[in-house]
Amino acid sequence: MTVYDLDSATLATTYDTLSDSQFKRGSELIERLHIDQSDVVLDVGAGTGRLGLWVLKNKLGATGSKLIGIDPLEERIKLAERKNTFPNGKFLVGSAEDLSFLEDRTVDVAYLSAVFHWVPNREKALSEILRVLKPGGKIGITTGAKELANETVIRKTLDRVLAGPKYRDRVNPNDYVSSKQGTTATELIKLLSDAGFELDEVAVRRNSTYHESGTLLVDFLESSTFGNFLVHVPEELRPSARAEYIQALDAIGQGKGISSVGFGISAVARRSFDLGLPACNQRQGCGQGEELVSLAGLRTRDSPGAWRLQATGRNPAGILGLISEA
Ligand SMILES: C[S@@+](CC[C@H](N)C(=O)[O-])C[C@H]1O[C@@H](n2cnc3c(N)ncnc32)[C@H](O)[C@@H]1O
Repeated sequence: MTVYDLDSATLATTYDTLSDSQFKRGSELIERLHIDQSDVVLDVGAGTGRLGLWVLKNKLGATGSKLIGIDPLEERIKLAERKNTFPNGKFLVGSAEDLSFLEDRTVDVAYLSAVFHWVPNREKALSEILRVLKPGGKIGITTGAKELANETVIRKTLDRVLAGPKYRDRVNPNDYVSSKQGTTATELIKLLSDAGFELDEVAVRRNSTYHESGTLLVDFLESSTFGNFLVHVPEELRPSARAEYIQALDAIGQGKGISSVGFGISAVARRSFDLGLPACNQRQGCGQGEELVSLAGLRTRDSPGAWRLQATGRNPAGILGLISEA
């Protein structure tokens, strides 16, 4: 059974209702990506489409460029499509590792909001995203900070319950799905750099979340892990573990709800302007105030054996342009 088989229409609807904290962090990431109306946007792991539809409404508009959202979970995509009224928005079943439905260099901004820790083959996903991004195109990621995953009320309370006599010989608390799946900030930097991205920013951010009750917090955890929340507990012990966990959370909240502080990574990187061709070693073709980004030798089609220089640069406003051909 893969992690995806446990999802259901009910979990999808619950996630759509209870995912305010992830939506908030996702929308903060979108602000850092500076999306404008003409950007083609790819929402990788779009889930129930909350964030993608917000981007369509607030950044692209119905007359702007298109947004494509993909997710392996069919029920979540069905819900996203049911809510979608934008002609330029489309939600499809798919995974980050296979973007073969997109041509090379066709996307301006790709983002993964609360998704990267779930992706089984991260190298493949990043190489696919790099391939479909235009030169200068951006990738944005929010994901849990694995190095700090155990430092939350949510995790510490769960560990306390699972240290009880009924569970301790049968459960390894470190098999908790959300802690196992993440990357550390250092791993994420390395993965992005190895994939060929230029890093703009990586930050570990303090996230504070609030849940009205233990039951609603557990409903959120089950729906955001698409049914995998207690898979490390033997099936026959799950109902009691769930009930004891809710009780322990409510005891902490004392009727006022549960606040939990956690840590997440937020990263923005881009595909470089490099044309991916052998760079020449002379600086040529820069206009005044412009900065050379890459200089490449191209074999011409009409005169085989001849070469032409092509320079790509950035002006002070950050705009990419072909500066000269020689
Ligand atoms: C916690 S939800 C986040 C959904 C949405 N991005 C949001 O911000 O609300 C994680 C999502 O990642 C998706 N996911 C898991 N593995 C994936 C993969 N290999 N490629 C793309 N998405 C994946 C899940 O199906 C799930 O919908």
